[in-house]
Amino acid sequence: MPRKPTPDMQKWCVDEKGQPRINKGAENVCVDESEICFIDGFHSKLYYRGYSIEDLAQHSTFEETAYLLWFGKLPTRNELKEFDQKLRDNRELPEAAYDVIREIPKDTHPMEALRTATSFVGNLDPEKQKLGIEYVPSKAISLTAKLPTIVAALARVKDGKEPVKPRSDLSHASNFLYMLHGEEPSEEWTRSMDLSLVLYAEHEMNASAFSTVVVGSTLSDYYSAIVGGIGALRGPLHGGANEEAVKQFNEIGSLDNVDKWYQENILSGKRRVMGAGHRVYKSYDPRARIFREHAKRFAETSGIPEVKKLYDIAFRLEELVMGQLCETRGICTNVDYWSGIVYYAMNIPIEQYTPIFAIARIAGWTAHLLEYVSRNRIVRPRLYYKGMLDLEYTLVDKRG
Ligand SMILES: CC(C)(COP(=O)(O)OP(=O)(O)OC[C@H]1O[C@@H](n2cnc3c(N)ncnc32)[C@H](O)[C@@H]1OP(=O)(O)O)[C@@H](O)C(=O)NCCC(=O)NCCS
Repeated sequence: MPRKPTPDMQKWCVDEKGQPRINKGAENVCVDESEICFIDGFHSKLYYRGYSIEDLAQHSTFEETAYLLWFGKLPTRNELKEFDQKLRDNRELPEAAYDVIREIPKDTHPMEALRTATSFVGNLDPEKQKLGIEYVPSKAISLTAKLPTIVAALARVKDGKEPVKPRSDLSHASNFLYMLHGEEPSEEWTRSMDLSLVLYAEHEMNASAFSTVVVGSTLSDYYSAIVGGIGALRGPLHGGANEEAVKQFNEIGSLDNVDKWYQENILSGKRRVMGAGHRVYKSYDPRARIFREHAKRFAETSGIPEVKKLYDIAFRLEELVMGQLCETRGICTNVDYWSGIVYYAMNIPIEQYTPIFAIARIAGWTAHLLEYVSRNRIVRPRLYYKGMLDLEYTLVDKRG
């Protein structure tokens, strides 16, 4: 008689009554202590290293935020200058990386292309044999500096254009826009891009940070850990939601159609609002509030009718979400709801929104890798096995 696993055999996964104790999706599981980020999901608060996201959004740059996340304190002016200079010095890619970028099939999603190019850049690292955690900061500076170059080069090549080489006289955000569009961005665009990188830089133990930490916990190399993060970020339930949100506004098509669309697709339970809902936030995502203000400004001042239309659709859809899903079930609009409209206004192709998220989030991934691996324990959870045991093996020819 085949045996079923007994509660006794499953003791690591059952409670005192012998019932399975499973946190599906690792909900509310704390894998470590941390000093990097705190999300107060009930009071709409987010802190990086103790500083509120509102203060960082108003006063900080991406460069300063990355320093804060990695080294645990705001840099002095000299520390920031030195850190910024290192980033500027590391922007250029080896020629071989451009060759690989040109070889990637044009129908590849930019996140998948980013995954390949990032991995290849790791292969070109002259210090790739050095795996220890003490080598992570210098590798992180190099890769954080290079990701915008990779993303911009991929975007241009996909569009049939030549990559634009990085400039070291521009800020991280400004240089990225310059490489993407081939012309120096305005102050307003630079500030909006920089702000978006600050808002996207970190968010505790989300799926991509966890992927990075899982890979890092095996004492694998830095590039593998970051590629793991990129892979997780690509999905529409995580970073890919910013692209899906704009596609959803486009699909709705007009302000007149929002209520009907919401009724047919969301109230019916057929689909989810992209850019709404969150595992941790049960109130309004504070990053969405900041992005929303910027989207509004672009809608009012850019003079691009399409931006205004998207904003109006998003505004009405958000009213419905907040009045119903948020009110009754804590499903409120999140960071990915509004960010796409800001990027859209800066003439950035929709499929580049998630790669931009990656350009920012490498700061958070690296911070978690440094923190977790500095007191490492390999990540190795269990599953509650509910299959059979001791089945009789039947030879292949005798199977019915
Ligand atoms: C982010 C997300 C994956 C969190 O998932 P989660 O915590 O595991 O929540 P679940 O998938 O278990 O959903 C719980 C319930 O809320 C509903 N729900 C969650 N997000 C929803 C959304 N955006 N629109 C409509 N309903 C939603 C689910 O349908 C489910 O309903 P049910 O209990 O009737 O089956 C989820 O909210 C989602 O898919 N959002 C859309 C994608 C997105 O914006 N991702 C970016 C996150 S920053």
